[in-house]
Amino acid sequence: MKTKIFCDIADYKTIKFFNKKNIVDGFTTNPSLMRLAGAKNYKNYSIKILKICKKKPISFEVFADNPGDMLKQAYKINKWGKNVYVKIPVVNSKGVFMGKVIKELSAKKIKLNITAVYTFEQVKKIIKCLNKNSKSIISIFAGRMADKGKDPMPIFKKSITKTKKYNNIEILWASTREPYNFLQAKKIKCNIITMPPSIIEKISSFGKSYKDLTIDTVKGFLNDSQKSKFKI
Ligand code: E4P
Repeated sequence: MKTKIFCDIADYKTIKFFNKKNIVDGFTTNPSLMRLAGAKNYKNYSIKILKICKKKPISFEVFADNPGDMLKQAYKINKWGKNVYVKIPVVNSKGVFMGKVIKELSAKKIKLNITAVYTFEQVKKIIKCLNKNSKSIISIFAGRMADKGKDPMPIFKKSITKTKKYNNIEILWASTREPYNFLQAKKIKCNIITMPPSIIEKISSFGKSYKDLTIDTVKGFLNDSQKSKFKI
């Protein structure tokens, strides 16, 4: 079983670059990444991306905060392209579970990426709302959890075991912080990991020998001391 690599980015040029690379199987965006990419018009910017990314799955998130408006945005986003996954936050900003939204969209076979997930309780509730014949992703935020001193491994292990029997539900390791997270995700057979371009670049050089690593490290220190003309 392969752990697919998605690129976590909304920058147009970077998506264009990685869309041609085999290492990347898809893309995830979120409103913060869209803002960072300088998107002014959410729809136009997304459609511009979809003109160059026509096949690989790509998630675009709703940003409404109430179920009614969330549904309206989701139906619109879904129409932008066949490879689009509509990203729905598991709760709104008041902490209310968005089960009704998930259920309605999934029943209509709209591909969903349920995001901002932090607990196994949430995963179980999401699964209950999902149409098992429709493609869905559940994004668990490993890095943000670990940033706060919480171990992400137990929720991943339980969620992967729980969704194993559903071919259309994939668990995604979101909020990746370091290249080693890829090996952790692979070990537990996580379906997808999404990571920023800088980490994808680092993964491409996986497998370097200890001998090369030790020499590269010493060379780096030597170069810097020479550039600074250090003397003792
Ligand atoms: C992906 O779908 C998430 O939006 C993303 O991985 C969040 O990453 P961050 O915690 O680095 O912002």
